[in-house]
Amino acid sequence: MLCRGQTTTAVTVFAPAKLNLFLKVLGKRDDGYHELETLMLSVGLYDTLVLVDDPQGELRLTCRDGGPAHRSSQRRELPRAGPDNLVLRAAELLKRATGSSRGAHIELVKRIPLASGLAGGSSDAAATLAGLDRLWNLKLTTPELARLAAQLGSDVPFFLSSTSAAICRGRGELVEPLPLAARFWFVIARPQSGLSTADVYRQCRPSRIDWAAWELAASLARGQLQKAAGLFHNALQEPAERMNADVTRLKTAFARQAFAGHMMSGSGTSYFGLCRSRRHAVTLGARLKAARLGDVFVVSSRP
Ligand code: C5P
Repeated sequence: MLCRGQTTTAVTVFAPAKLNLFLKVLGKRDDGYHELETLMLSVGLYDTLVLVDDPQGELRLTCRDGGPAHRSSQRRELPRAGPDNLVLRAAELLKRATGSSRGAHIELVKRIPLASGLAGGSSDAAATLAGLDRLWNLKLTTPELARLAAQLGSDVPFFLSSTSAAICRGRGELVEPLPLAARFWFVIARPQSGLSTADVYRQCRPSRIDWAAWELAASLARGQLQKAAGLFHNALQEPAERMNADVTRLKTAFARQAFAGHMMSGSGTSYFGLCRSRRHAVTLGARLKAARLGDVFVVSSRP
């Protein structure tokens, strides 16, 4: 955070990606959303937001590519910086909710791929709420910020809570933090194509599995990787594979490597594999990079 005298003039916030190790669809709700039980972990792949105060009250967003970190091939697609961008919607919502006349120039440095099931947009929105709360010295309470977060998207409250792992319920906005002492290593691959979350949910069916997220959480807490991987579940993977052949290609490529377990994250198209160690992840990540199926990231969960 950069400060001048007593007045904060700029704030830098990091917005991590997430993986869903478990995503059980319990049914469709009257409001059109799906009732979920999901286990989310935030991981070390970040967008960065630099928020600079604008006392004139203007809100402006610029997006730029975060460069070659972890990058294999393609040019990164950037989000549109228009008013439908979740960052600007978060800023507008905060202004409306608090009656603040302040503004900000926001630079979004993008590393998390779009439409990939890694919730980059939701994380950026949460970072905007938290960052502007600090920049504009609003001092909103955590429940006040969480209410605003839930209006922006189902995954936004998870990122706003400072927990790095949680079981989330409702449409995803009810966050139960999960204390996980260990750090877990993953390889994530994201093909060239993405999927729309709404389209994938439209095609999904309720899960027909007889285990719950807490059982996976218990295995992770005990460090039983193989057992944990056997409890991975994602009800959105089947419809995503029907809609996008790249997801199936990744599944086949991951199945050829010695991951403890592998699965699609969220509504896709990103695919991840759980590894035994950093070294294991670097080795398997290099093999997937060589297969040229998309961008490959080696990441760990956050402590
Ligand atoms: O909440 P968010 O805006 O991120 O969700 C995007 C879309 O995904 C929703 O408009 C809805 O179609 C679908 N969705 C759903 N059930 C959820 C979360 C999202 O059907 N629990």
